[in-house]
Amino acid sequence: MEKCSKTPQRIKKMFNQIANNYDKLNTIMTFGLHKRIKKDVIKHLNLNNDAEILDLCTGTGDLAGILKKKYPYAKIIGVDFSQEMLKVARNKYPEIEFLDADCTQLPFKNEQLDLCIISFGLRNTEDIKKMLSEIYRVLKKGGTFINLDLGKPNKFLNIFFKPYMYLWVAFLGKIFHGDETPYKYLAVSNEDFPSQYRLVEMFKEIGFSDVKNKNYLFGQIASQISKK
Ligand SMILES: C[S@@+](CC[C@H](N)C(=O)[O-])C[C@H]1O[C@@H](n2cnc3c(N)ncnc32)[C@H](O)[C@@H]1O
Repeated sequence: MEKCSKTPQRIKKMFNQIANNYDKLNTIMTFGLHKRIKKDVIKHLNLNNDAEILDLCTGTGDLAGILKKKYPYAKIIGVDFSQEMLKVARNKYPEIEFLDADCTQLPFKNEQLDLCIISFGLRNTEDIKKMLSEIYRVLKKGGTFINLDLGKPNKFLNIFFKPYMYLWVAFLGKIFHGDETPYKYLAVSNEDFPSQYRLVEMFKEIGFSDVKNKNYLFGQIASQISKK
């Protein structure tokens, strides 16, 4: 299993570098499916109009934007530590509050939030347990936590999926950026990331209950929904 460095400094620098092309690349890499999946993940949520929602590792803010459409009166905050990603998010969604902060040390009180959601962020975290514990701390009792990220498809599908991730993503990196390194990271970053089934166990170990996994694209992408 390939290990790759996920220090906050490295992650911040990398996302700062690719911020301006991130949305375009995301759409090409997923054939536009990422937004559809994000909408599906929040489809069954039933929050109050005045709910407090935190989009962790918000990046360019797409998920926060989707949530704002569904809950226009909710207090939605996007948090990320890449200033360049946040710049793009603020330009796209001036009506949403975006904070520059580290998601392993959230600037919120205990049991403040109704929903914590994170998409394609946990995989980029050096200390997954620390981030999960922080999410647990800031979530209200009865609050919802949703994670969406790359999953591990079965071995047969991986024969097709792995080369796609490595070669296609690196190729796109060269085209868009002149350097494949930051994009290659996107493929490698999943290697040492726990499978969706291991994540379910980890969430339970932290204290979350009713943890349910849903696979997309045969498990290449997966989402877990849980309660505090
Ligand atoms: C792959 S992007 C995902 C962006 C967005 N959520 C999406 O679904 O497109 C990962 C983001 O996580 C952010 N990130 C990673 N670790 C973080 C941390 N500890 N605190 C804050 N942001 C973090 C990065 O800066 C980057 O913007």
